[in-house]
Amino acid sequence: MTGNQAFTVALIGASGLLGRAVAAELARADSARTWRVVTTAHSRAGLHDVRLDLLDHDAVRAFLSDLKPDAIVVAAAERRPDVCENDPALARALNVDALREIAREARATGAWVLSISTDYVFDGTSPPYRPDDAPAPLNAYGRSKRDGERALLDCDPASCVLRLPLLYGPCIDWNESAVTSLAPAIVASADAAHPGAPMDAWATRYPTFTPDVAVVIRGMLEHHARGATISGITHWSGDEPMTKFDIAGRIARALKLDARVIAQRTPTDATPRPRDCHLDSARLEALGIGRRTPFDHAIAGLLAHYPDLPDQ
Ligand SMILES: NC(=O)c1ccc[n+]([C@@H]2O[C@H](COP(=O)([O-])OP(=O)(O)OC[C@H]3O[C@@H](n4cnc5c(N)ncnc54)[C@H](OP(=O)(O)O)[C@@H]3O)[C@@H](O)[C@H]2O)c1
Repeated sequence: MTGNQAFTVALIGASGLLGRAVAAELARADSARTWRVVTTAHSRAGLHDVRLDLLDHDAVRAFLSDLKPDAIVVAAAERRPDVCENDPALARALNVDALREIAREARATGAWVLSISTDYVFDGTSPPYRPDDAPAPLNAYGRSKRDGERALLDCDPASCVLRLPLLYGPCIDWNESAVTSLAPAIVASADAAHPGAPMDAWATRYPTFTPDVAVVIRGMLEHHARGATISGITHWSGDEPMTKFDIAGRIARALKLDARVIAQRTPTDATPRPRDCHLDSARLEALGIGRRTPFDHAIAGLLAHYPDLPDQ
């Protein structure tokens, strides 16, 4: 592709927390390039989305062979660890088999695939993790995402995986992100009669703002569009380490609340989770790709009118 020729992007999973941010970023008027973005969604497909069930492989093939996109961004997944643990077959169907099908069709039509993965492919015992470090997932979600990465890259080595940590950003429900989902408990804990809200103080997280990830993805698409395709595994992460207990303190400050939060120093989740999966983002940083909005600034913006939801 050269100059300002339209470049067609199939954005799969545009109704999700990350997909919406990517769609918004690619629609920005000041974007360096004219993108033609075709968005897909499933249960939450809006007027402008193609309704596509990734479990229907015939429909996936038909969609991609008709559209013939230059690039495919896959933000659709089953990403709830507890759901994956209880239904590993569903997790595989979406996170592995559907991705393999997309990769096959992309290889046939020459499209570049950028698929989103997770820091949960690591066991969290020896951070920071570089893209070539060996995955060792602790739970069914992490295993399905690792297997999806392999299925994609085995089928099409020119494609790309972008691993991300805990995400937060403009949401349509406070529970959409494990960051903003803490807000209701923090508000409740400010009541004098409240016994205190327990918060995990064991695992270190690197909350990453979805509009920043969208800038990263736009940068990666721009590289591909000018012939400098990024292939293989990449990482992007916020650079502020914090436990959920720390996050709760920052949310309480943003809400100007005297919250009563109790630190839990041992893991309590039914599904095993890694302790510290800090992702080394040097590969993308070296390409000049990326943006990091300070956490306190981003969270204050999201919570500015709490309990009203932020603008998308
Ligand atoms: N959220 C995080 O903290 C986090 C952290 C690290 C990595 N990631 C990764 O980032 C990516 C995006 O996550 P997210 O948080 O934006 O997820 P999300 O909010 O749960 O959105 C999931 C998306 O997948 C779509 N989807 C689900 N089942 C589908 C099906 N059968 N066919 C087609 N589409 C289907 C959903 O469509 P409908 O809603 O329309 O059904 C939605 O657009 C995922 O790969 C995830 O593993 C997320």
